[in-house]
Amino acid sequence: MRPTFHQLELFREVARQGSFTKAAKKLSIAQPTVSGQIKQLSQGIGLPLFEKVGRQLFLTEAGEMLLDSCREMFDSLDRLEMAMADLQGQRRGRLKLAVVTTAQYVVPKLLGEFCQEYPDVDVALRVLNHAQLSDRMGSNADDLYVLSHIPEHVDLEFQPFVDNSLMVVAGRSHPLALQAMASGGRKKIPIQKLANQDFVMREPGSGTRRAVEEHFARHKLSVQVRLDLSTNEAIAQAVASGLGMAVLSRHCLASGITNPDLVPLEVEHFPIRCQWYVAHLKAKQLSVVAESFRDRLLHYDEFSEHQLIGSPSLVMS
Ligand code: PGA
Repeated sequence: MRPTFHQLELFREVARQGSFTKAAKKLSIAQPTVSGQIKQLSQGIGLPLFEKVGRQLFLTEAGEMLLDSCREMFDSLDRLEMAMADLQGQRRGRLKLAVVTTAQYVVPKLLGEFCQEYPDVDVALRVLNHAQLSDRMGSNADDLYVLSHIPEHVDLEFQPFVDNSLMVVAGRSHPLALQAMASGGRKKIPIQKLANQDFVMREPGSGTRRAVEEHFARHKLSVQVRLDLSTNEAIAQAVASGLGMAVLSRHCLASGITNPDLVPLEVEHFPIRCQWYVAHLKAKQLSVVAESFRDRLLHYDEFSEHQLIGSPSLVMS
C-alpha cells in the first residue's frame, strides 16, 4: 500500500516532535488519528517506523530512511512552489538558515532587509556554535549556512563571505591594557605576554575557540583557560569585569557588544585572520529564495554599510 501525503506529513511531524501527542497538538488533530495513521503507514511499509524506549520515541532504521525521503520530497515540493511563485513574479516561500554565533551580528540585519523586500518569505534562522552547525548539516535541515571553518565530513559548496578577524580584548584595568595605555598604544604587545594570562574562552565545539587554540599552538604557546562561557556576550561581560582576557570576533565588538570597560589590544600576530563562508550541501538544490538570499550575502559590502570597526587598535580615552 502506498503511503498517502497526509500520512507522510504526520510521520514527519511525529519524528520532529519525538511524540505522537505533541505532533497531534502541533497539527491540531486528535492523537488517536495520528497514531492510527502512523500504524497504517507502518503496516503498508511492512516495518515499524518508531520504537519506544522507556517514555522516549526513537526512529527505527526504516523510520530514518523514510524521514530522509520525506525531507527530499517536501523540499522538492517547497522548491516547486517557490519556482511557480517566481514565474508569477512573486518571491515567496521558506528560507532556512543556520549561522555561527559570530555571524549573528551581521546576517539578521541582511535578513531584515531581505524580508522587507519580500514580505511573503518565511524565515527560520538558527544561531549555533561550529560543532552544532556541522552536526546539523548531516540532517539536511537548512538551505544555507554561514561559518568560518569548513567541516571535512560534509560535501559542501562554499564561497567566501566576509572577513571575521579575531581580536584580543581585556578589561580596562587589566595590567596589559594599562601597559598599552602607558605606551600610548604605539607598541604592540608581544604575543608571549599572553602565555601566563587567564583567558575567558568559548565552550569546546566553538569555532572561535578552535581558531584561538590553533593560533596559540602555531606560536608554541598554550592558552590558560580560566573560564569557558557559551556566548560572546557573556565573555565580553566577564572580561569587562576583570575575569581575564579573551579573543573575540571584530563583529561582536562592532555591533553586538559595547562595553566601555572592554578594550581591544594591539598584540603581535593578531588579529587572527578568519573568514566566513556561505555554504550549502552540494547535493542540495537551492530554491529560488535561497539562491537570491545567497546572492544578497555574497554581494554584501560591509564597508559601504559602515559595519566595520577598522583594523584592531587600542581605543582608550
Ligand atoms: P563559533 O563560531 O560560534 O562556533 O565560535 C565562530 C566561527 O566559526 O566563526
